[in-house]
Amino acid sequence: MQKKIRVGIVGCGGMARSVHIPSYQKLHDVEVVACADINEKAAIEVSKKFGIPHYYTDYHKMFEEIELDAVSICTPNVFHKDPAIEAMKHGAHVLTEKPMAASLEDAKEMYYTSKKYNRILIVGFQTRFSLGINAIKNLVESGSLGEIYYARSRYLRRWGIPPSLTFIKKKFSGGGPLLDIGCYAVDTALHVLGYPRPKNVFAFVFTKFGKNPEYVEKGCWGGRWKINDFDVEDNAFGMIRFEKDLAVSIETNWASFTKEEGLNITLLGTKGGATLKPFEIYRELMGVRTVTTIQGEPPRISIQEMKIFKFIESIKVGKPLYAPAIEGLRDQAILEAFYKSAMKKDAVKVEWDF
Ligand SMILES: NC(=O)c1ccc[n+]([C@@H]2O[C@H](COP(=O)([O-])OP(=O)(O)OC[C@H]3O[C@@H](n4cnc5c(N)ncnc54)[C@H](O)[C@@H]3O)[C@@H](O)[C@H]2O)c1
Repeated sequence: MQKKIRVGIVGCGGMARSVHIPSYQKLHDVEVVACADINEKAAIEVSKKFGIPHYYTDYHKMFEEIELDAVSICTPNVFHKDPAIEAMKHGAHVLTEKPMAASLEDAKEMYYTSKKYNRILIVGFQTRFSLGINAIKNLVESGSLGEIYYARSRYLRRWGIPPSLTFIKKKFSGGGPLLDIGCYAVDTALHVLGYPRPKNVFAFVFTKFGKNPEYVEKGCWGGRWKINDFDVEDNAFGMIRFEKDLAVSIETNWASFTKEEGLNITLLGTKGGATLKPFEIYRELMGVRTVTTIQGEPPRISIQEMKIFKFIESIKVGKPLYAPAIEGLRDQAILEAFYKSAMKKDAVKVEWDF
């Protein structure tokens, strides 16, 4: 009988419980053998609930004592780097939750470690399995939209401030919605456009809701946060100028007075345009401007499960099948440039040569 792939989990919170562990446990040739969390209660709960034989309060000990082929990193953003690097040094392939890290420095260290130890490192962007996003990518690659000169990529929320410290406290999250959900807007734009080389970024961040007592009092997503805990932005906007004739705007927020919500991308090309929501293509047909509505296939599988299954498949085939570390790193370079530009109140160059 073939040996099962042995998986370890670092961080036993929401994502580990709702996505990573249940998805691994659907695979007959995978076993989740150990989990670690600095919060002992969380580690015990998860170990009991999912029948995981070993639990730890220190992931170092887990890596020393348990042989693992693969590790999921489900900790707050600031704590992605250290366990990911430790796991790779101990020989495991790593799937880290998005964004890749809390800073470009951290992402670089993770990327170079994966190269040095020849380990697969994937960033868990389930959006890579969205049928719509991939259809738009195929449209761009087919050339049927002509030369794309502008894209507007956004992840917007009307009232969606996650109240937990994992997200609103910089020492855990590294940043606000720009890192939390803006990372999807950046990743989707770069993925669809084939990772063109950026030149610079001009960006703005705002904190308009998270520190306003009136809004804090209302709470969000079933909880309130303490006003002094909130030390990140809640809105971020900016433009990326590329070396070729292309500009991309990124918009993201956890709270705003708007109608639109969720992830969306709009592309303008010289022969056509497209947008994800509604899923439409705009072209000229027989001399007239037309709108084509795409009938999306209903998803056959959850994109969250898909990211776990494809990570395991990546290990089997020996190469990352989606969102490889280099792409997570390039996304992070853009995100970092956004924060730098916002702080400097001027355009900043994007680091890109990795
Ligand atoms: N892909 C998605 O759809 C999605 C959705 C939500 C969150 N996320 C990402 O998943 C990650 C975790 O988010 P979550 O919602 O599960 O957070 P969470 O707060 O529910 O869980 C995080 C867990 O990590 C533990 N932890 C913190 N520091 C640790 C350390 N050094 N070692 C071990 N454990 C540690 C905490 O005790 C907690 O149990 C974040 O990076 C977040 O951006 C992704």
